[in-house]
Amino acid sequence: MLNEATLILDGQEYRFSIREGTEGERAIDIQDLRARTGYVTLDPGYGNTGSCQSAITFIDGENGILRYRGIPIEQFEQAPNFVEVAWLLIFGHLPSDAEYQSFSADLTACANLDESMKHHFEGFPRSAPPMAILSAMINALSCFHPEFFDLEDQAHFRIAAAGLISKVRTIAAYAYRHSIGQPYIYPDPALRYVPNFLHMLFSQPYAEHFCEPVVRDAINLVLLLHADHEQNCSTSTVRMVGSSQANLFASCAAGVCALWGPLHGGANVAVLEMLDQIYQGQISPEDYVHMAKDKDSKVRLMGFGHRVYKNFDPRARMLANVAERLLSTLGVKDPLLDIARKLEEIALEDPYFVERKLYPNVDFYSGIIMRAVGIPTNMFTVLFSIGRLPGWIAHWWEQAQTRGSKIARPRQLYVGSGVTDHVPRDQRS
Ligand code: SDX
Repeated sequence: MLNEATLILDGQEYRFSIREGTEGERAIDIQDLRARTGYVTLDPGYGNTGSCQSAITFIDGENGILRYRGIPIEQFEQAPNFVEVAWLLIFGHLPSDAEYQSFSADLTACANLDESMKHHFEGFPRSAPPMAILSAMINALSCFHPEFFDLEDQAHFRIAAAGLISKVRTIAAYAYRHSIGQPYIYPDPALRYVPNFLHMLFSQPYAEHFCEPVVRDAINLVLLLHADHEQNCSTSTVRMVGSSQANLFASCAAGVCALWGPLHGGANVAVLEMLDQIYQGQISPEDYVHMAKDKDSKVRLMGFGHRVYKNFDPRARMLANVAERLLSTLGVKDPLLDIARKLEEIALEDPYFVERKLYPNVDFYSGIIMRAVGIPTNMFTVLFSIGRLPGWIAHWWEQAQTRGSKIARPRQLYVGSGVTDHVPRDQRS
């Protein structure tokens, strides 16, 4: 197999080395393309461009494969444990029992916010989008922990990572409680990650929320299935911001902003709004799929399609099973799940979707699960952020630890006007 690519430009041959990944995927190394040829590449949306080498997650989009540090995602389905997956992604191996217990203890110890952070929540209108609050408060968190700015050694980094992963729940819960005018509920050190989060969301000062094991497992799985996904839009944002040596909190706050978009993490909200629109509007799933195929309708089948998966998103399959299991165990009948199933059935047999290789993605069923647990729609992308945080942290750290890591600074192709002179205002038409 050739280990070089030849480019002929203006009659001259240039050879570039080929890099091969663990799973045989291949890349043309063009790091010195401009220096040698004067040319740059053009790839809007970076669909063909590798921004880095990474050892964290592997996706085979053609075959619907997703692995965290080499472990197939399906193997986390039994006894799902988000905290364990967070450790795996960040530190590169499954934690020993001692590592797991120590990391859990760190998460418990770091769960509280500085009391004066509450003033920030009070400053937001009740109607403030929770993603705006989340991004702002992650940044604000760094003001209370200056020790997290210079994460030179792994011990410092580990405490910062635990602090962020733990406190993001408290921030999310406080944002929700503020939006409904209810008192903040402090984290309970006796509770594990997910039960503690649901406690802060749903308990009352006089009535403790109890987390059913089936709910604990469902939300652990939802979070871990969102934990990382190679160089998606928000993770690339975290790497881009981190490449300037901005601190971990600022980088992850930027990741929240990128994830907010309806084409990315905001899709889980858009899916529920779509299902609800179909249900309330008594639109037939067939008619909605017809609209989604019509470019003029500006309607998309939200939760369908993916830049990388041209086969089933393995996370969608697993979340569909969790939704069925959770709703039947809780005895919840949700007409929106029936509509989702019908949409999937129709689309998977429709040439428009088949030809474009559009399958359900991670967002198609996740909202059904969160809704069944009582999480409001406007908090869905916040949960996606909580889930994705370990992935962002892992990538930020991997980049920070990479020798010779440079600030990200893409090139462009300028297509504006040629050189022109400035015209004083009194001489302009
Ligand atoms: C996430 O990158 C990641 O890994 C993301 C993520 C993660 O874990 O980080 O997996 C999470 O963001 C999942 C995606 C959530 N977004 C949605 O569900 C929104 C709906 N999906 C699309 O908008 C779209 O499929 C994207 C944005 C996900 C992917 O877009 P691409 O790869 O840029 O594809 P495209 O927009 O160029 O579409 C190709 C064709 C077009 O038709 P033609 O011009 O070829 O005729 O497919 C059509 C599109 O119109 N199409 C859809 C569609 N998605 C693509 N048509 C109807 N409904 C859809 N959902």
